[in-house]
Amino acid sequence: ASDQNEDLRALIRTIPDFPKPGIMFRDVTSLLADAAGLRATVARMAAPWEDKGIDKVIGLEARGFILGGAVAYHLGAGFVPVRKAGKLPGKVVTQDYALEYGSATFELHEDSIAPGETVLIVDDLLATGGTAEAGITLLERLGACIAGCSFVVDLPDLGGAARLRALGMDVHTLVA
Ligand code: PRP
Ligand code: HPA
Repeated sequence: ASDQNEDLRALIRTIPDFPKPGIMFRDVTSLLADAAGLRATVARMAAPWEDKGIDKVIGLEARGFILGGAVAYHLGAGFVPVRKAGKLPGKVVTQDYALEYGSATFELHEDSIAPGETVLIVDDLLATGGTAEAGITLLERLGACIAGCSFVVDLPDLGGAARLRALGMDVHTLVA
C-alpha cells in the first residue's frame, strides 16, 4: 500500500533521537497540519471500512483521537476513546501495556460498547503493536466485534503488524 501514498509519506517528518537517543521519531504533526494531507489521510484510512458496518471507531490516546474522530465522522460512526489511566470518569476496564520506549495503562468505559457492536481501531502509528493490543484486549473484554485496525504509519522492523495479524486482526496501514 505504501507506494500509493507517496504524497502522505512526504508530509511525515523524521526527528532523530526523540524521545530517547537512537529512536527515529516519525512525526505526523506535519501531515496533520497540511489541509490536503489531512483530508486524504482520513479518506484513505476510512476507505477499506466503508461497507463493513462500523458502529464505532475506537481512538487510542492521544494521536489516535485526532484521526479516529475524523474517520468516525467520515464513516458515519460513533467515536469512543481509549484513554490513559485516570482520565475517564465512569466505570472502566483497565489494561497495562509496554511500548517502544516505556509502559502505560489504558482504560475504556465499560458501557461505551454494547456486546456485538462492530468497531474499528484507529491510531497514527504502529510500532511494536503493544498499544493496539491493549486496546484489543479491552474491546474483547466488552464483547466488541473488532473489524480491524487502521494506522497511518507502520514501522515494519518493530513487528506490530505481524503481531496484530497473529491475533487474527485485519490491519490496514498507509505508509511503511
Ligand atoms: C505512540 C503512537 C502509538 C504507539 C505505537 O503513542 O501514537 O499509539 O506509540 O507504539 P506501539 O505500537 O509500540 O505500542 P504514545 O504512547 O507515544 O502516546 P501519545 O499518542 O499519547 O503521544
Ligand atoms: N513516531 C511516533 N510515535 C511512535 C514512534 C515513532 O517513531 N515509535 C513509537 N511511537
